[in-house]
Amino acid sequence: MLKERIENILNEQVEKEAYSSALYLAMASWCEKNGYAGIAEWMYAQSEEERMHMLKFIKYINERGGHAIVPALKQPPVNQQTVKAMFEDVLKHEQYISDSINQIVGLAIEERDFTTNSWIQWFVNEQIEEEASVSLILDKLNMLGANNMYLFDRDIMGLRANENSEGA
Ligand code: FEO
Repeated sequence: MLKERIENILNEQVEKEAYSSALYLAMASWCEKNGYAGIAEWMYAQSEEERMHMLKFIKYINERGGHAIVPALKQPPVNQQTVKAMFEDVLKHEQYISDSINQIVGLAIEERDFTTNSWIQWFVNEQIEEEASVSLILDKLNMLGANNMYLFDRDIMGLRANENSEGA
């Protein structure tokens, strides 16, 4: 049975993962409208991944005797300035998510909930990967400069294909 503080922090994370999914969906839509088909594909897949994260939290809370709550969401930003600024926002957002996963680890240890601590480790590792893949994209964008967005857009399609073939 989950302690109340653990149930609450896990439900807060349900909301954060749901918002992440909506945020990347909004970014996917912006990319699609602005002619970046490859980046849109990456963002749609990322949005789907965040939905899977949200579902993992929902199922875990209910399995452990809590009640997972489906939250209302605020609207994510609709207009990005540039692709680079958008990915900088993605990195900032993922760093914020990593921080909140670490807070769950901290609380699980404080409450001696070693089951939750063990379960949440999957997300600790997932965040290392998510931050690394966005940093890699930003490195590529910095190398290319603003003039080669067409090439970048083609290139990012390959990145997602490689991740999928590695089972990520
Ligand atoms: Fe579910 Fe990208 O953190």
